Amino acid sequence: MGESGDNKVKISYYYFLLEVRILKRILVTGATGQIGSELTVALKERYGKENVISTMHVRKPPEDLEELGPWVTLDVTDRNAVDKVIEEYDIDTIYHLAAILSATGEKNPQLAFRVNLLGTYNILEAGVKYNLERVMIPSSIAVFGPETPRDNTPNETVLKPTTMYGITKVAGELLGNYYFKKYGLDVRGLRFPGLISWKTPPGGGTTDYAVEIFYYAVEGKKYTCFLRDDTYLPMMYMPDAIRALIELAEAPIEKLKHHADFNITAMSFSPRELVEEIRKYIPDFEVEYKPDYRQEIADSWPNSIDDSAAREEWGWRPEYDLPAMVDDMIKNIARKLGKDLP
Ligand code: SER
Repeated sequence: MGESGDNKVKISYYYFLLEVRILKRILVTGATGQIGSELTVALKERYGKENVISTMHVRKPPEDLEELGPWVTLDVTDRNAVDKVIEEYDIDTIYHLAAILSATGEKNPQLAFRVNLLGTYNILEAGVKYNLERVMIPSSIAVFGPETPRDNTPNETVLKPTTMYGITKVAGELLGNYYFKKYGLDVRGLRFPGLISWKTPPGGGTTDYAVEIFYYAVEGKKYTCFLRDDTYLPMMYMPDAIRALIELAEAPIEKLKHHADFNITAMSFSPRELVEEIRKYIPDFEVEYKPDYRQEIADSWPNSIDDSAAREEWGWRPEYDLPAMVDDMIKNIARKLGKDLP
């Protein structure tokens, strides 16, 4: 081989090293869920289609999500199965989204305990075993409880939730911080408020009304809201939520004082305020209020959140407020359902 041949080998070797250093192999658990179905798209755009492996368990991938594969069936409560998929796909980063939300969790607390707590434990243990670069585990405003200050709830406060979902999320945060301190595993997480999106419906949450209501409004139907009209809850539009997860994942670790338990928020509103905003587009929209068991869950959560730690430590800034979110939701849902707005 001549000198130029040697150089070619050297150059491709350097490219190989560079690629190995920056290559990410990401596993997304719960990829068919409300967050997962959109996060997977964003991660694939950023890190390459083949480098993001989607897992599902309960929900099958709808046809339009098939291109988000490779898809793997994974029950996160099965430790051996978690190990197997990490080995098989040479994973270095996990976004662990598989979870049972608050309302379903109150109907089946045993299932919520197993999926949320054992699932998180299995992911953390595997993270240590395989020396993963990073594990992202979203938490929730459900970590707060009736004794937590309700307005502008601080990052450091009373965490005594009264739902199984909240209990498993507090434990998940504490475990994440513990695995960071004890094993040096880079676990990061944020407390999502209610998430609003038009692409994939949420499943089994207390904040789900704020998504359902748009479908009724656009279809010209009356909506029966399962929360009282004055129930304030912190909320966020999905494009902000996806960006928050990726920005936190990519934040320089030396800037982070918190790890698995950042407060974040974008807006707070009550059902009445949301209806008023929707009526700017659909003036005849009718709503009645019939609070059910989810009212008690909502009453135990904050009205609004102080997210200054996230702002200071990794530069968090929401883009969507209530009017911007409603505008985007109405237009996209009308397009999706093939309806003209009045
Ligand atoms: N949106 C979630 C729920 O309502 C809160 O994390 O359960």
